[in-house]
Amino acid sequence: MKHINVGLLGYGVVGKGVADIIEHNHSLIAQRANVDIKVKRALVKDLDEVEVKPPHIDFTTDPYLLLDDEDIHIIVEVMGGYEPARTFSVEAMKRGKHVVSANKACIASHYRELLAAANENEVSYLFEGSVAGGIPIVRAMRESLTANNIQGVSAIINGTANYILTQMTEEKISFYEALAQAQKLGYAELDPTFDIEGIDAAHKIFILTLLSWGVELDFESIYTEGITNISPLDIELARELNNKIKLLAIAKELDGNIDIRVHPTMVGQDHPLYSVDGVFNAIFVEGDYLGPAMFYGQGAGRYPTGSAVVSDVIEIARDISCGIGAKRINPFGYKELRRAKIM
Ligand code: HSE
Repeated sequence: MKHINVGLLGYGVVGKGVADIIEHNHSLIAQRANVDIKVKRALVKDLDEVEVKPPHIDFTTDPYLLLDDEDIHIIVEVMGGYEPARTFSVEAMKRGKHVVSANKACIASHYRELLAAANENEVSYLFEGSVAGGIPIVRAMRESLTANNIQGVSAIINGTANYILTQMTEEKISFYEALAQAQKLGYAELDPTFDIEGIDAAHKIFILTLLSWGVELDFESIYTEGITNISPLDIELARELNNKIKLLAIAKELDGNIDIRVHPTMVGQDHPLYSVDGVFNAIFVEGDYLGPAMFYGQGAGRYPTGSAVVSDVIEIARDISCGIGAKRINPFGYKELRRAKIM
């Protein structure tokens, strides 16, 4: 059986999750991928920060020990942020390595350059873990829903914000108490501003919009409003109307242009998104032949997101084992992306 080695850029919440899953489900994954997959090396900021170091993983602070290692076939970028994530991903692809990313901020900001690097170097760039943690929405959009004109997407895609709003509703605690809980549980980004200001949800709906309609948009033009101004009184008023306040990310296509936005929304009891509570995420999609469908699951956290990332590693490993070098079409599922305006 062939061997595939993975290099982890980052060993935080998700990076450790990826390493654990590859180790614990090693035989199952080998059966499914028809190759033996191991994490060979992991890049960390500070060696002393890693409390438990699995002996088979070589921990380093030097990124070039991963990028220049010809025995590492797949780089998993789970460091978050824009830089050096972008540079390391591009450098990895230039060296002929496939890249798997869970970094929605980096994808939303640099997808053109990342796709160009993948095309030019004939490698795969996959990102199932970038949207909604463990929910297989990227692959569904790229593969299972491709027969449809997508009519609209309404989504709860920030686990932290949904957790905070749920705790404020159910436990009647303050915004800041709920935020502290979400951080302790590892749901929030290092800088929770992205979660509570709706920016993380905007990154994710931007990626879903690229997948749904193959359009290029200016990220900065997305109307984005977070939940920092939601007060206990707002929550109570919504309850009196049999509604809940949810941070929704919404995208629709109208005459070739895109209506895309993120903001707190009153959701009524009759809508499927009403019951999506806690760290759970859901994406409600309508396709012209599919009709309505909802994808639901844990949208953040070590193992749900790690599960999505490892699924991309397995997809690439399968391709390698079958002698397929890279995806033939760009990973958003369109031959070419078209320019569109935000309405
Ligand atoms: N901070 C993100 C969230 C993590 O809360 O949804 C998953 O992208």
